Amino acid sequence: MGPESGAQTSDFLIIGHRGARGHAPENTLLGLDTGIRLGATWLEFDVQLHPSGAVVLLHDTTLERTTNGCGRLADCGFEALRNLDAGQGQQVPTLEEALELVEQRAGLNVELKSAGGTGEAVAGVLRQYIAAGWPAERLLVSSFHLPELWEFHQAAPEIPVGVLLAGVPLDWAGCAIELGAATVNISSEFVDPRLVADAKAHGCQVYVYTVNDPGEALALRGQGVDGVFSDYPDRLLARLGRH
Ligand code: G3P
Ligand code: MG
Repeated sequence: MGPESGAQTSDFLIIGHRGARGHAPENTLLGLDTGIRLGATWLEFDVQLHPSGAVVLLHDTTLERTTNGCGRLADCGFEALRNLDAGQGQQVPTLEEALELVEQRAGLNVELKSAGGTGEAVAGVLRQYIAAGWPAERLLVSSFHLPELWEFHQAAPEIPVGVLLAGVPLDWAGCAIELGAATVNISSEFVDPRLVADAKAHGCQVYVYTVNDPGEALALRGQGVDGVFSDYPDRLLARLGRH
C-alpha cells in the first residue's frame, strides 16, 4: 500500500512541497524542476479546476499572493490566467504540463484544492498518463475535502489516495481507513502518537507537512512517521542522508 517507497533516505520520504517552495515559485514548472534538481524523488503540488475545464496548479482561490493578477481564479478567463506571471516569468501551469515536465522523474502528489468535479477531472488526466505508462504507484492524490477525494477514488481506484488532516479526528485514522487511503498526510501541529499508531496498524503511511527543520524531521522519523513535505528538500536530504 501507499506510494512506492522511492525514499532517498532509508524508508523516509522527503517530498518537495509545492515543488520546492523555498527555492522557486510555488506550483510552477520551474518549482517542480528545481525540486527534482535538488534530489526530491517525490513532489507535491496543489490543483484546482478552472471554469474552462482545465486543471491548473494554484494553492489559493485568489490570484494575488502567487501571481501578478488579482481576484478569484474562478473569475479569471483561461487566456488571462495564462498571461499572468506566477513568479520569475512562470505561467500558472496545467496538470498536463506538470506531468510532461516531470516525465516520471519524480513521484507526484496531486493535492485537490477545489471541489465540484475536480476529482473527476484529475482522474481523467491522470488515467491518460497511466495508460501511456506512468506507474499508478508513482502518483498520490490527496485532499482536505474528503468527499471530493472520494469522488476521485471512485473515478480512478487504481491511484493511491491520501487523506489530508489539519487536526486530530475523534476516530483517529478512521476517515483514511473508510476511504481506503494509502496515506494520512497531517499538519506538523497535530502529530499524535495514537493517530500515527492507528494509521500504521491499518496499513496507512503517515506523512507530515510542512517540515523545514532537519532536526524536526529526524524526530518525526523516530516517532514512526514515514516522510515529510518540505519547502527545502535539499536541507533535509543533506541531514538525513541519501539512501
Ligand atoms: O499536502 C500537504 C500540504 O501541501 C497541505 O497544505 O496548504 O500547503 O496545501 P498546503
Ligand atoms: Mg498542498
